[in-house]
Amino acid sequence: MTLVIRGGEVVDATGRRRADVVVDDGRVVAVGTDLRGDVELDAGGCMVAPGLVDLHTHLRQPGREEAETVETGSRAAALGGFTAVVAMPNTEPAIDDATVVREVQHLGRLALCDVEVAAAITIGRAGERLAPMAEMAALGVRLFTDDGTGVQDARLMRRALEYGGGLGVTLAQHCEDAALASAGHMNEGEWSSRLGIAGQPAEAEELMVMRDIALARLTGARVHFQHLSTAGSVAMVRAARAAGLAVTAEATPHHFTLTDECCASFDPVFKVNPPLRTGADVIAVKAGLADGALNAIATDHAPHAPHLKEQPFDQAPPGMLGLETALALALTELDLPIEALLALLSWQPAAIAGIDDRHGGPIEVGREANLCVIDPAATWVVDPDRLASRARNTPYAGRKLTGRVRHTLLRGEPVVIDGEALR
Ligand code: DOR
Repeated sequence: MTLVIRGGEVVDATGRRRADVVVDDGRVVAVGTDLRGDVELDAGGCMVAPGLVDLHTHLRQPGREEAETVETGSRAAALGGFTAVVAMPNTEPAIDDATVVREVQHLGRLALCDVEVAAAITIGRAGERLAPMAEMAALGVRLFTDDGTGVQDARLMRRALEYGGGLGVTLAQHCEDAALASAGHMNEGEWSSRLGIAGQPAEAEELMVMRDIALARLTGARVHFQHLSTAGSVAMVRAARAAGLAVTAEATPHHFTLTDECCASFDPVFKVNPPLRTGADVIAVKAGLADGALNAIATDHAPHAPHLKEQPFDQAPPGMLGLETALALALTELDLPIEALLALLSWQPAAIAGIDDRHGGPIEVGREANLCVIDPAATWVVDPDRLASRARNTPYAGRKLTGRVRHTLLRGEPVVIDGEALR
C-alpha cells in the first residue's frame, strides 16, 4: 500500500521545492508533482522535512520509569517531529555495559522513534575507570558520554579520546568542573545574589570546554560538547572549529529562550544543569546557532516525577522537558530561515550521531522514509497536562508558540497524524 504526502513544500539539505512524496515499504519511492497513493496525508501549507534528530534525550529506562519510559518518551519525540533520539546513559543502572545497551535497544524496537543508545565513558559514570567501550561500540553505540556529570580527570579523558578515536565513535562531554560548580543550584551572578540561592559560575562550564578543546588537539579525536550555555563556551568552540579541530557542539532550547531571572519565582521547574544563564549568554547562544559555531539544537529532555521535582529549589533535581516544544521554540524564538533551523534539528545532529544514512534526509527516492510534516503557521499554547511525556516539568506552561508537527513517519509508517500519536 502506498502513501502520499500531498501539497507540501519539501525542505532538506538540498533546498526547497513544492513536491508530493510517495512512500512504499518504508522508503521514499517518488518525489514530484501531482503524485497519487492509496492513502493520502495532507501537507497543505506545510513543510515536508526529514525527521528531527535529538542528540540528548533522557528516557529514564531502566530504573526511573516513574518519570519516563522508552515508550512514553518516544511518543513525546514523535509528537515533536523527531524520528530518532539519542538516549542518555544516566539511568539506574547506568548504560555502561553490553547487557544494559541490549536492554535499551530491545525496548527501542517497539518505540515510536528510533532509539540510539549513548553509553557511559566510565563505569557507573563514576569517572574512575573506562567502561568497555569496544563491546558497546560493537553493538552499534556511536556516542559515549557520562552526561549528568563531566569526566573530571583529564588523564582519563585523554585515554577515553584515544580509545574512542580508534573505535570511530564520538565522545560527548557534559562540561562542568565539579569542584567549582559544587553546591550551586543556579547561575552565579546578580540573580543568585538577589535570591540567596547558591550559584555555579560560567567558568565551571568553560574550564572543561577549554580543557577538552586542548585534549581534542592533543589526541586528534572528535569531541562533541553537550548543552553549551555560556557566551565564553560558544566563543571557544567557534575558535576551535575555525582552527580546524574536530569539535562539534549543541545548545538546548531553554538556553536560547530563558534566563536566570526565571529563578526569581523559586519554581524548581526552572532548575536545570547547566543552569539558565544571563541575557548576554542567550544572545551568544543564538548567535552561535546562527553562524555555525554550534551545530545542533538538542533538547536535554529531562523528565522528573512530580514528587521529586516539586521540592524546594535547592533540593529538586535539575532538568526540564523538551521534546514536544523544541521545534516550536526554535521556530518562534530564532530568527533563522527554515532550512537553517532544520539543519540544526535534523541533518547536522544526524551526522554527529552517525545515523545520517537513515535520518536527516535528503528526501529522495530510495531513502528510508523518516519524515515530519510541519505546519509553520499553527499556533498553540503549551499545556503540561496534554503532553505525552509521563512527567510534567515543562517551563513553558501557558506559553503561546508558533509551529506544530502535523504528521511524523517512521520508516514509512505514520506514527503521528494530524498532531495525534497513533499508538
Ligand atoms: O538538568 C539536567 N538534567 N542536566 C543534566 O545534565 C542531567 C539531566 C537529568 O538527567 O535530569
